[in-house]
Amino acid sequence: MSSEAAPMSLRPSASAPVSQAASVTHMTEFVLPPHANSFGNVFGGQIMAWVDICAAICASRHSRLPCVTAFVDDLHFVAPVRAGEIVRLEARVSAAFRTSLEITVEVSGENPIEARRWVCTRATLTFVAVGADRQPTPVPPLLLDSPELVASQAAGEERRQQRKARSRSAK
Ligand SMILES: CC(C)(COP(=O)(O)OP(=O)(O)OC[C@H]1O[C@@H](n2cnc3c(N)ncnc32)[C@H](O)[C@@H]1OP(=O)(O)O)[C@@H](O)C(=O)NCCC(=O)NCCS
Repeated sequence: MSSEAAPMSLRPSASAPVSQAASVTHMTEFVLPPHANSFGNVFGGQIMAWVDICAAICASRHSRLPCVTAFVDDLHFVAPVRAGEIVRLEARVSAAFRTSLEITVEVSGENPIEARRWVCTRATLTFVAVGADRQPTPVPPLLLDSPELVASQAAGEERRQQRKARSRSAK
């Protein structure tokens, strides 16, 4: 008999709610000169790429499936981050639907020398989980175990209706 414990499956059933904490994703990036524009500030597109990666990891952790970006809500760059500073990202599931998930990403800048942090941007993205057949596949609901999460799911449902209207008018 092997003394090694069998690996624990992380795959949830599509109907068992998953806590928000189970998929919270953090990333820390050091801003290097190739990430920066001629003003020495990190490119908006670089921030967007990091936001997309951080959110995709969070969506896959929740669903235990590959997830594709379906929609990115408005992105506002509140304050720049310069080369030599740090970009911190935190992604959370803010609402779960049938096969899609709303992920909110908060991005902040950090100057490690001055021990200073500031808000850089906040973004909301929708990801769709896809199965082996590459078709949208059901995701577990978000475990609504606090009034804040109940409010977050309700606000996500409202934003989802707005996205549907925007997607329809864009077709
Ligand atoms: C996202 C995608 C898989 C949806 O496929 P589809 O056949 O249109 O799917 P459906 O109409 O059955 O909708 C499936 C889910 O996607 C959601 N969805 C589809 N288009 C959406 C959009 N523009 N914005 C937000 N959600 C969207 C639907 O609301 C639905 O969610 P629900 O099941 O939680 O209610 C498909 O449009 C696609 O592959 N898009 C390209 C994705 C991509 O290449 N991303 C960039 C690289 S990762």
